[in-house]
Order: sequence, then C-alpha cells, then structure tokens
Amino acid sequence: MTNVKISPSVLSVPMDQIGDAVKNLKEYGADYIHCDCLDGVFAPNTSDGIQMVKICKANSTLPLDVHLMIMNPDKFIKDYVDAGADIITFHEAACTKTAETLDLIHSYGKKAGLVLNPDVEVKSVIPYLDKVDVIMLMGVFPGFSGQKFIEYVLDKIVELKKIIGNRNILIELDGGVKASNINEMVSRGVDICVGGSSVFNAPTIKEGIDALKNA
Ligand code: DX5
Ligand code: ZN
Repeated sequence: MTNVKISPSVLSVPMDQIGDAVKNLKEYGADYIHCDCLDGVFAPNTSDGIQMVKICKANSTLPLDVHLMIMNPDKFIKDYVDAGADIITFHEAACTKTAETLDLIHSYGKKAGLVLNPDVEVKSVIPYLDKVDVIMLMGVFPGFSGQKFIEYVLDKIVELKKIIGNRNILIELDGGVKASNINEMVSRGVDICVGGSSVFNAPTIKEGIDALKNA
C-alpha cells in the first residue's frame, strides 16, 4: 500500500532481550527504532531509557526515535544524545522551556519534535512550527504498550496536516497502531507509525512489520 515508515517500540520487550529483538529490524523493513523513556512522573510507568537507547545503538544501525515521557526533558537531552538518540521528541506539558529545548536538540545536530497526548489541542504546536522536524500524536495515553487506539485522534491528524501545510514536518502516530487501522492513519497524512505490540507480539517480528507495511 503506502510507503509509511515503521518505528517499532521496544517498550514491551524485556531489557535483556532488546539487543536480540532489534538486531534484524532493518532487514525486516523497519525504518527507525522507537525508545520510550518514562520517569514514572509524567506517565505512570518507568523505563531505563538511557540503557534502552544504548542497547539499541549497539545492536542496530537504524535511526533511534527517542520519545521522552519525562519531566524537565531539557536536563537530559545531552545524556540521550550521548547514548545514541537521532530524533528526540518530548511533551510540552513536561517542559518549561519548549523552544529552548528544541534548539538544544538541534544544537547537537539531532532532529527534534513535540508529542501531543490525546487530550492536548493540536493548535498548541503553532508557536513551534519553525523549530520541529516531527510532530507525534499519541493514539493512547502514555505509559504502556498494548492499549486500544483512541478513535478521535483520527480527526487530529487531519487538523495537524492542515496546520503544517507545506512545511517540511513529519507526522508520527504512537499508540494503538495495528494492521487493521494503519490505513486510516496514513490516508489522513501520517508519515511514521510506531508499532509496539503489533510488532513484538506478532508470531514473528518480521510478520508484525510485514503486516503493518502491507496492510
Ligand atoms: C506508550 C508508548 C508507546 C507504546 C506503543 O506510552 O509511548 O510507544 O510502546 O505500543 P503499542 O503500539 O502497543 O500501542
Ligand atoms: Zn512512544
């Protein structure tokens, strides 16, 4: 069907299995690896994000798409860059210095983006349109893999696409992406889909990626 990019999320993979899980993602057709970094404050779950990023870097040449669900992300940008992040996205609600943090990420030569929870208005990105490479819409409330996609986010894709206009900004969708709903997202303008359970709970990882790419 489409040429949507797939960013498998390793959040549900136990830390000691992530290395093996990501080794062949590139040859299976994945385009990025999505690393979910949680401090237990911004969202109700924790992960050792730095360690996750380091393991992915050591085991794959795919660009690492690092999703910070942590408070005060500006304080940790350098740590994530040093660990191997290529794209860093964060939530404005967790940050008191959004513009400065986007600039900081760019100062390291990395791509930067904002993430919008399902209940965050799309127009909140307007002040930052000249500073973002990607805008990620959450299809679920952050915390865990395996949640059901929230349908009203489909309308937010359309709204975001309009706001972006002809700017060079990618739209990413994170949470609840399945072979059964990915076309509804892509047809509305999504460029990159994150796949957690749809990739890592499939009979094989390759089948999970194939199912999303060929939906
Ligand atoms: C949720 C994370 C997602 C999650 C996606 O907080 O940001 O990246 O791992 O998992 P699925 O695709 O199973 O919803
Ligand atoms: Zn994520």
